[in-house]
Amino acid sequence: MIVLGIESSCDETAAAVVRDGREVLSNVVLSQIDSHRPYGGVVPEIASRAHLEAMAPVIQDAMDQAGLGWSDLDQIAVTQGPGLASSLLIGITAAKALAMRTGCPLTGINHLAGHLYSIHLNSELPLASPDCPWLVLLVTGGNTLLAHCQSIEQVTVLGQTIDDAVGEALDKGATLLGLGYPGGPEIERLAKSGDPQRFSFPRGLQGGRGIVLGGYSRELCFSFSGLKTALLYRLRDCPNWQQQGAGPDLAASYQEAAFDALLDRLERALLETGCQRVACVGGVAKNLRLREKLDDLSTRRSVDLHVAPLAYCTDNAAMIAGLAGARAMQGFPLIPVDDVQPNLPL
Ligand code: KG4
Repeated sequence: MIVLGIESSCDETAAAVVRDGREVLSNVVLSQIDSHRPYGGVVPEIASRAHLEAMAPVIQDAMDQAGLGWSDLDQIAVTQGPGLASSLLIGITAAKALAMRTGCPLTGINHLAGHLYSIHLNSELPLASPDCPWLVLLVTGGNTLLAHCQSIEQVTVLGQTIDDAVGEALDKGATLLGLGYPGGPEIERLAKSGDPQRFSFPRGLQGGRGIVLGGYSRELCFSFSGLKTALLYRLRDCPNWQQQGAGPDLAASYQEAAFDALLDRLERALLETGCQRVACVGGVAKNLRLREKLDDLSTRRSVDLHVAPLAYCTDNAAMIAGLAGARAMQGFPLIPVDDVQPNLPL
């Protein structure tokens, strides 16, 4: 089962070829970060224009690197949402055109489900099953959620952020600290030489057992907007923080508060579900401090921990092709690609 995946939900133009849902034959990602950096965030018009220019060469590159021709493909998979409408549109249009030209079946894939699947790429880890469910913490620039997976199709969201995503909180915090974009890696770099205990920042939505929030248990939800505001006020109250050399301690304390909130909810979900397998996926999972804290949790609670490989943490098309391949091999039907679905839920 050879699948070509296409991903363009935000600011990465990506194409990949994956065999049998697992073996990544090629994985091409063209990042647009340099084009968006001057604006401190993704500009949708710039993103869609860049996708338009890069899409055909990126797909060709993925096919060349895999050493395959069009007739070798069994399926084409494309991200249908969630994401920026004008960015998704370019990937979907390219995928539809290719499917029409090659006669290859086309399926739509949920971007978030792709992230959840990313731990299975180039690995033999068992897929989720009712006997062996996975508890997955998904941490990206656009989403933060806890998913209980009983198969690749049966996914229950246990809790999610009620405002900013954790990656967004890191990006916005970095802007306040005068750092570059994207902020996650910048904060991580500065935090390395800082004291994470020096400043106290809120951990958001602590406790709340029995309270329901937007259909989820409050104690499994996240909130990062207060954290960002706390940093804003601290910098305003101490305008000389830069001259005093407080940047590294601020970055370390801010990052620690964000990750403590993630770990707190993850541990609660572990106790509630009794899952023995835990995973962490998405761009923020690249962070070494977060990985350390996850390792510590898995040792303390004696659970199996798997963090997505670095190449598959940030947006990529291998996770889209991989999930499509796994679905096809388990006999799940193609998902029709009608239109972009910017708010597609998991
Ligand atoms: O998964 P991703 O590429 O995009 C979405 O699907 O949203 O994740 C991008 C996010 C950004 O917020 C970025 O700051 C964050 O991942 N990120 C990191 C690191 N590398 C990327 N956050 C913390 N530490 C990192 N090393």
